[in-house]
Amino acid sequence: MISKEQEQSIRELLEKMTVEEKVGQMHQLAPSIVGGFDVSFEELIEMVTDGRISNEEFGKIMSTAERDFHEEDIRAGRVGSYLLNDPKKANELQRIAVEESRLGIPLLYGFDVIHGFRTTFPIPLAETCTWNEKLFEASAEIAAREASAYGIKWTFAPMVDIARDARWGRISESAGEDPYLGSLFARAKVRGFQGKNPADRERIGATLKHFVAYGAVEGGQDYNTVSMSKSMLHNGFLPPVKAAVEEGAMTVMAAFNDYNGVPCTVNPYLLRTVLKESYGFQGFVVSDANAIRECVSHGIAEDLADASRQAVKAGMDMDMGSNVYHDHLVSQMEQGEVSMEVLDEAVRRILTVKMALGLFEHPYVEEERMEQYDSGLKEEHLEAARDTAKRSIVLLKNEGVLPLKKEQKIALVGALADDGENCLGAWFANGRGSECVTVKAGLERAGAKVSYGECCGVESELDREALESVCKEADVVVAVVGEPNAMSGEASSRADITLPGHQRELLEAALETGKPVVAVLMNGRPLALFWEQEHVPAILESWQLGVAHGDAVAAVLFGEYNPSGKLCATFPAMTGQCPRYYNHPNTGRPGGRSKFTSRYLDAPVEPLYPFGYGLSYTEFSYENMRIKEDARCFSVTVQVKNTGACPGEETAQLYLRDVTASIVRPVKELKAFEKVLLAPGEAKDVTFVIDKKEMGFYNEDMNYCLEDGKFIFYAGGNSRDCLEQERMVAFS
Ligand code: BGC
Repeated sequence: MISKEQEQSIRELLEKMTVEEKVGQMHQLAPSIVGGFDVSFEELIEMVTDGRISNEEFGKIMSTAERDFHEEDIRAGRVGSYLLNDPKKANELQRIAVEESRLGIPLLYGFDVIHGFRTTFPIPLAETCTWNEKLFEASAEIAAREASAYGIKWTFAPMVDIARDARWGRISESAGEDPYLGSLFARAKVRGFQGKNPADRERIGATLKHFVAYGAVEGGQDYNTVSMSKSMLHNGFLPPVKAAVEEGAMTVMAAFNDYNGVPCTVNPYLLRTVLKESYGFQGFVVSDANAIRECVSHGIAEDLADASRQAVKAGMDMDMGSNVYHDHLVSQMEQGEVSMEVLDEAVRRILTVKMALGLFEHPYVEEERMEQYDSGLKEEHLEAARDTAKRSIVLLKNEGVLPLKKEQKIALVGALADDGENCLGAWFANGRGSECVTVKAGLERAGAKVSYGECCGVESELDREALESVCKEADVVVAVVGEPNAMSGEASSRADITLPGHQRELLEAALETGKPVVAVLMNGRPLALFWEQEHVPAILESWQLGVAHGDAVAAVLFGEYNPSGKLCATFPAMTGQCPRYYNHPNTGRPGGRSKFTSRYLDAPVEPLYPFGYGLSYTEFSYENMRIKEDARCFSVTVQVKNTGACPGEETAQLYLRDVTASIVRPVKELKAFEKVLLAPGEAKDVTFVIDKKEMGFYNEDMNYCLEDGKFIFYAGGNSRDCLEQERMVAFS
């Protein structure tokens, strides 16, 4: 990560540092709110959560709050990192660290930049439906450019958690359920944030989070416990982490949850054995917010001193916001409970990252850079956001209703249709609801004939009269339904993932008008849409697409862009099917018609929309599957044909199943995919190449095994509908 000379200067610095200064580097804090509001801080948080004030209003109030920036601690060398996104303040505090502290070690500013900074891109779950690495990378690069102008040199992203349970609110921040696609996403984000040289002024350091298996919390309930075999961990959950460490990710954030009884925060197997030793990770590990303190609530630490001791010994290098290292590590060192070697290792890792980020040479941010983004959005960035947004949309059902024609009169209903804030999704950094193009605005900008009535909010009752009056003259009803931002993201798990509130009644009433109905969904997770699939003739999943939401939806509704998104997470038919994911380990009695198979009495065997699924305004056929083998790899070729009437882009997918192995293997695993653009009637051969080395798995002893035997190759447009061929494979 750094040069030999830089390593030497870190060694020299370590020799000069007192224990207190070393612990200081391991301490991250945020400004403390000390008051200055008319209501309590807790009430303010409630007000923004329940919608009494908007996020923008909240931001304005917060900027007037009295804050303690802990200047004294910085001056004394007791702070290593800071959560902040204010360049002026960042420079002010940095000046204290660099010019007034004894050793002049710069602060490292971190912030959550999850899907854009000023220009809000689609939530990661949506963006992943593009299956497009170039776009994953480009949005991170733009976010880094904007965030770095606000003094941020480090982001707590990408989130690389494999998410298989749609009840879990944080699925919205994830790349979905597949380790292969998730690994491509993780690598692309690291490249996008860090570039070739993260010290460049428009690049920032990336964090892989949350390490690990946070997406497997029991029942999809946030912060819950995780029990899982090591083979499942290594095959199903760790691949994106391993891939992104190889790509050069500079930091890793430990997850809140425990893994098999030991919180990740104090888990030496995860932090030392897997990450630092086996993967050779050279950067530093940061805790999640307050997580070291929470080891006492977990019941694994007797008190905070014990928590500090366990965490540092396990390989936790930096404490995010819990003050536990700050308050206890020095005394733990004095009592001989923690060795200097352990402390030095943590500090060396932190200083290495600071050095690799160029902070020692360029600790300050040019404050003027922020102006160009703060005063408005850059057209070039907006254009990228529009492009990604339209490619993220997934067409779930279409019985001849879409695309719409410009001369059709549209009745637009549903509160979300005219709501900029809720286009942003969870964790929108410095995005502003007022800058988002709503569905209503997008349709109007596209020249549609629209009459709009809210008729039903996410929480409020259906107003039938209003609905009848809006729909009276219309040729088609477009109902925008779904979830507000606050229903996904952190601490936003749901026990029932059907459409919230009275929105199904809105759809029912729209259908009763006898006009064709299009449901446009805005949400941050897969929803259970069994009823909707039965009754509504067209369903478009638009997720939360950020600043360009309405433009993208309008482009797809009018067929100016033929939808090409493919799901990166399974949509269960009912909530009770959760967790539902396509790459499930096989069972002795796979779900079928018979009662004595793995199924529910009161739910279908299949999910509603499988992983990899997404319709187009045209259709594609798959034929003539051929497999070739050489010493190194298998090449699978299939002919994909556009059998419909308009041009379209298809994502052809290749899955593999290891039929007999020494441990139970998934029923299918994605191994490759290719995009093809086809004119009507056009056919192309698509070839997928699978390296034989990629056909193995980790066993319980964590050995990677390539086992001879029968494999099935599958090729198709989603994980369910595939052509298949068997092969006997011998690796030696
Ligand atoms: C979240 C992290 C985030 C951190 C800092 C925590 O509550 O779990 O994902 O990076 O806060 O904002």
